[in-house]
Amino acid sequence: MTRLPVNCVQLSCPGDQRAKSVQFQFHSSLWFLVLSFLSLSSCAVEDTTDLRMCITNLRNTIEKSDAMLYSPSIDDIEENCENVSLKCYMLELEMVLDEEEVYDGNASCILAFKERLDSNSHTGGCPPCEAYSLQNITIFLDRLITLLEKLTARGNH
Ligand SMILES: *[C@@H]1O[C@H](CO)[C@@H](O)[C@H](O)[C@H]1NC(C)=O
Ligand SMILES: *[C@@H]1O[C@H](CO)[C@@H](O)[C@H](O)[C@H]1NC(C)=O
Ligand SMILES: *[C@@H]1O[C@H](CO)[C@@H](O)[C@H](O)[C@H]1NC(C)=O
Repeated sequence: MTRLPVNCVQLSCPGDQRAKSVQFQFHSSLWFLVLSFLSLSSCAVEDTTDLRMCITNLRNTIEKSDAMLYSPSIDDIEENCENVSLKCYMLELEMVLDEEEVYDGNASCILAFKERLDSNSHTGGCPPCEAYSLQNITIFLDRLITLLEKLTARGNH
């Protein structure tokens, strides 16, 4: 599985300081490779905690949307269908980001998470997104955060 580098937390990359001390030993193009490697190994957004942060950062911006969105609630999501439901959320969120024209690092954090999820979610036996109720953006985001908190607590992702 390929892990995608993500810019959401790029400002506090722990590799930066360590890397600076060896900066002068490298030709600039090699230096670029080293930087890329460090950002892959140290700064990639890997889990639901980071995703939650990216969503929280964008909350004020995307809450302007008046779209109605499929919003599986924790109580509706069956065992083993969390990933599939999370994918429903990511698809809806992608639509909102597009509609509100949000293209910053927080948005790419969300899209990268969605891409990673694609390879992990086989829909076998789980209800389609359309089976869940349509809700406004406020309830959509509340429910999504609740799902992410549950997954984080369980140590999934
Ligand atoms: C959901 O995805 C995570 C990793 O992204 C995986 O560890 C877990 O087994 C998946 N769960 C299901 C029910 O597919
Ligand atoms: C994420 O959103 C926050 C708050 O809106 C903003 O200050 C920050 O610059 C954004 N981060 C990136 C990497 O775009
Ligand atoms: C979203 O729906 C809830 C309940 O249906 C309502 O209380 C809330 O005011 C709505 N929010 C917006 C932004 O429409």
